[in-house]
Amino acid sequence: MRSLLLLVSLGFAAADNGLAGWLRYAPLPSGSHSHYTRPSSILALNSTTSSPVYVAGQELQSGFKNILGDNIEIQHGGCQPSAVVVGTVAQYKDVCGGVEGIPELAEDGFWLSTKGKGVQILGQNDRGALYGAFEYISMLAQGNSSQVAYATNPSAPVRWVNQWDNMDGSIERGYGGASIFFANGTIVKDLSRAAQYARLLASIGLNAVVVNNVNANATTLTSENIEGLGKIADVFRPYGVQLGISLNFASPQTLGGLPTFDPLNSSVIAWWQNVTDEIYQRIPDMAGYLVKADSEGEPGPATYNRTLADAANLFAKAVKNYGGIVMFRAFVYNQLDESDWKADRAKAAVQFFGPLDGKFDSNVVVQIKYGPIDFQVREPTSPLFANLLNTNTAMELEVTQEYLGQQSHLLYLPPLWKTVLDFDLRVDGKQSIVRDIISGKRFDRPLGGWAAVVNVGTNTTWLGSHLAMSNLYAYGRLAWNPTNNVESILQDWIRLTFGFDLSVINGITKMSMDSWPAYESYSGNLGIQTLTDILYTHFGPNPASQDNNGWGQWTRADHLSVGMDRTVSNGTGYSGQYPAEIAAMYENIDTTPDNLLLWFHHVNWTHHLHSGKTVIQHFYDAHYAGAETAQTFLQTWESLKGKIDEERYNDVLTKLTFQSGHSIVWRDAINDFYWNMTGIPDDANRVGNHPWRVEAESMTLNGYKTYNVSPFEAASKSVAIVTSSNSTTGTATTKLEYPSGTYDLAVNYYDLYGGKSHWKVYLGDRLIGKWVGNNEDVLSHTPSIYLDGHSATRITFRGVSVNKGDTLKIVGTPDGVEPAPLDYISLLPPGIVD
Ligand SMILES: *[C@@H]1O[C@H](CO)[C@@H](O)[C@H](O)[C@H]1NC(C)=O
Ligand SMILES: *[C@@H]1O[C@H](CO)[C@@H](O)[C@H](O)[C@H]1NC(C)=O
Ligand SMILES: *[C@@H]1O[C@H](CO)[C@@H](O)[C@H](O)[C@H]1NC(C)=O
Ligand SMILES: *[C@@H]1O[C@H](CO)[C@@H](O)[C@H](O)[C@H]1NC(C)=O
Ligand SMILES: *[C@@H]1O[C@H](CO)[C@@H](O)[C@H](O)[C@H]1NC(C)=O
Ligand SMILES: *[C@@H]1O[C@H](CO)[C@@H](O)[C@H](O)[C@H]1NC(C)=O
Ligand SMILES: *[C@@H]1O[C@H](CO)[C@@H](O)[C@H](O)[C@H]1NC(C)=O
Ligand SMILES: *[C@@H]1O[C@H](CO)[C@@H](O)[C@H](O)[C@H]1NC(C)=O
Ligand SMILES: *[C@@H]1O[C@H](CO)[C@@H](O)[C@H](O)[C@H]1NC(C)=O
Ligand SMILES: *[C@@H]1O[C@H](CO)[C@@H](O)[C@H](O)[C@H]1NC(C)=O
Ligand SMILES: *[C@@H]1O[C@H](CO)[C@@H](O)[C@H](O)[C@H]1NC(C)=O
Ligand SMILES: *[C@@H]1O[C@H](CO)[C@@H](O)[C@H](O)[C@H]1NC(C)=O
Repeated sequence: MRSLLLLVSLGFAAADNGLAGWLRYAPLPSGSHSHYTRPSSILALNSTTSSPVYVAGQELQSGFKNILGDNIEIQHGGCQPSAVVVGTVAQYKDVCGGVEGIPELAEDGFWLSTKGKGVQILGQNDRGALYGAFEYISMLAQGNSSQVAYATNPSAPVRWVNQWDNMDGSIERGYGGASIFFANGTIVKDLSRAAQYARLLASIGLNAVVVNNVNANATTLTSENIEGLGKIADVFRPYGVQLGISLNFASPQTLGGLPTFDPLNSSVIAWWQNVTDEIYQRIPDMAGYLVKADSEGEPGPATYNRTLADAANLFAKAVKNYGGIVMFRAFVYNQLDESDWKADRAKAAVQFFGPLDGKFDSNVVVQIKYGPIDFQVREPTSPLFANLLNTNTAMELEVTQEYLGQQSHLLYLPPLWKTVLDFDLRVDGKQSIVRDIISGKRFDRPLGGWAAVVNVGTNTTWLGSHLAMSNLYAYGRLAWNPTNNVESILQDWIRLTFGFDLSVINGITKMSMDSWPAYESYSGNLGIQTLTDILYTHFGPNPASQDNNGWGQWTRADHLSVGMDRTVSNGTGYSGQYPAEIAAMYENIDTTPDNLLLWFHHVNWTHHLHSGKTVIQHFYDAHYAGAETAQTFLQTWESLKGKIDEERYNDVLTKLTFQSGHSIVWRDAINDFYWNMTGIPDDANRVGNHPWRVEAESMTLNGYKTYNVSPFEAASKSVAIVTSSNSTTGTATTKLEYPSGTYDLAVNYYDLYGGKSHWKVYLGDRLIGKWVGNNEDVLSHTPSIYLDGHSATRITFRGVSVNKGDTLKIVGTPDGVEPAPLDYISLLPPGIVD
């Protein structure tokens, strides 16, 4: 029997800082849980406080108390049919006898039954029991009192997260504050956030955290730090979360003082074994190592002409007797020369790892990014998944939005991940879906699974944005079961995080599901990559940064044509790295999907897509459409005011307001850049034609001077204004020659790191609005010290009544290195956003 409780919206506490994530255990509306039978007790079949089963009992008690208002006592022995029992199947058998009807469970799996008088939550192991308890609490918290009885198992044994935390407490590509693990070269004393992190991860079935950056510092392995890592492992353990460690390949030399780090040298092997023994003495359940070698300047086996398999197996042997594994990153590539038409970074992983297939020890897992370049807004599935048939593999995803808005743009990532997880690579002409390859199913591998770079920090929102947490939640849910529907996962998260109001559920669902297509549309579409600045912050637009350097993220755009020719017939040959059916599809421009056209083919800007549009017109249209969709996120969120607590409402409002403006910055930068390059006008005459704008440089300036922005496309008409000195105020004045009426006034300015300028805008003598350049304090993204696509920002003052001939004046007061920069203003009639 199924029933869903009818729930009405609740009053909210005024503030929620996000720390509890989706584990808020918010009270259900009273009277709404009549179908639920109060259990007589909670029976947690382990009384050791560090046991996940014990923790499961505590969580259940807290869940009943907070969600349902029931104080239920915990017992650790005796068998009562009307209790909620949590433990392993084996413990249950000992205490309560029969376990008929429960199928054989895989490692970490569990059985959940709410049929009958009591509730049984039985894990294959301790942490499986905890996972089951969290799943049951999730049902309670969502007001779901269905009678269920089912077994569930994870898709794969490896369900890890990676943190790129440095020993000094900074986090590479982290947007949620400083490290919760490290500061000042060592492990922090207060590990309460580490424990809370483990709790969040356990609640979604994730089982290990590699705590330090893949660009690893050898000092992580000093005896003092190993003791500190042990303390982290101690706070993880009750949640069934294991600790993993990133290694620096040169450690035997840099830390150990040996003259070499040759992986085949016996003193090097002995050094690594000795360190590994020391680690396992302190952390007997250490999950294993993560290794980035010979990649982006990191040391590796190439120094000694040894293979990447020699390197991986060195560590595999060291951890083998302890049950540890080695996650070995496939992200290995060299700098390339763009003048060579056949050079292609996308081919590197298969070139380096393909020949090593079958040479890795059985406890090595090759960790492969979803696409062959680097976490772009769309990439084809990495062909390496189809080239390692005798090697364990895992997929590497990024929850942290490195190239995808850095948590200052809303972007629900699972629909992007699904394009790869659900892709059928047709190895040997047989169904070979990527999720079945990484689980080990397709090629009958014993190990495999998932890794995601998460990079939570000390910010109470964890990731730097409340809405970004849906990505972490969904990552865990997909790693458990990649066939789960990404919209259903999202809605579970919304109910757990924001409650049951239907307008809240529908609003956040719509925004989130629209967010990746919108971002793709206003950043880089047709498979050209994100078009962000790859040489600096990876945040705002800078298409020119892709080319004329050795990084190999090229677009090969010129005034006539664009795209990477990755065909076998005339290009880099990359398409030939796929199994025959897939290779044939991508080789042929007619069967290549439009959304990957420029990934695989070099075409004229006037080439017609399957859609019928030319490439250039598609760029223009998509950028307008994407930015328009981003405006709706803000409108939707504003419609939810009063239905979400003020703290989270305002935090998210700040980000969506920024995104609505920054999506226009993206739109115009990309469109202006390619219009400039091609000289081909927009059919709809929008690009370069902005009738509602007044350029700052065309205003009357006093104490301001013009400034040529670089890259040019990061400013409207490529010019902005800055104060003439960094200590005196500037004014920019213009007479408004628009018909009298009510307008939204948008002001585009630049917010640099290293100063907090003040601006005031007046109509005549009337102060219309003022603001401060404090993005670095209120947004999560990496700030910039320049006027560019990262610092470009828009603020909007709504409903300003203007009379024809009014004088508009902006007064800018510089601060620090920020010279109160301005780009343009727009006076927008109702319904127009430009
Ligand atoms: C209880 O938990 C502890 C700690 O995890 C574990 O060592 C012990 O084996 C468990 N007891 C039983 C009976 O499973
Ligand atoms: C209640 O939870 C069960 C178990 O997860 C699920 O199968 C069912 O669809 C849920 N019911 C509703 C209405 O969400
Ligand atoms: C790091 O060291 C600085 C300077 O000694 C000190 O002020 C700070 O509190 C330390 N931080 C932590 C987290 O230990
Ligand atoms: C490694 O960590 C040590 C100790 O914190 C620090 O002095 C050193 O600069 C770090 N090395 C690198 C390359 O970051
Ligand atoms: C290991 O390296 C050391 C130092 O370079 C060298 O003396 C020794 O001969 C090497 N051993 C082997 C077995 O290669
Ligand atoms: C082995 O590790 C121990 C610490 O466990 C350390 O004291 C010792 O110096 C190490 N030996 C070598 C040869 O590195
Ligand atoms: C590197 O190793 C390969 C294969 O073992 C060998 O053919 C080659 O000569 C070696 N190169 C150098 C520079 O030692
Ligand atoms: C073939 O490759 C050359 C560069 O070697 C390039 O200039 C040309 O445009 C390509 N031809 C086609 C049809 O893509
Ligand atoms: C691309 O444009 C060039 C220059 O206009 C022209 O010569 C060439 O034929 C075009 N290529 C195709 C495939 O249309
Ligand atoms: C493109 O921009 C550059 C730099 O601002 C400018 O010199 C050039 O005239 C522009 N070209 C076109 C076709 O707009
Ligand atoms: C969290 O980050 C936001 C910016 O994303 C910032 O406004 C806020 O002050 C930070 N809070 C904490 C506690 O660090
Ligand atoms: C202001 O400008 C002067 C002269 O350019 C410079 O020396 C000074 O460092 C600047 N002050 C700040 C706070 O940036």
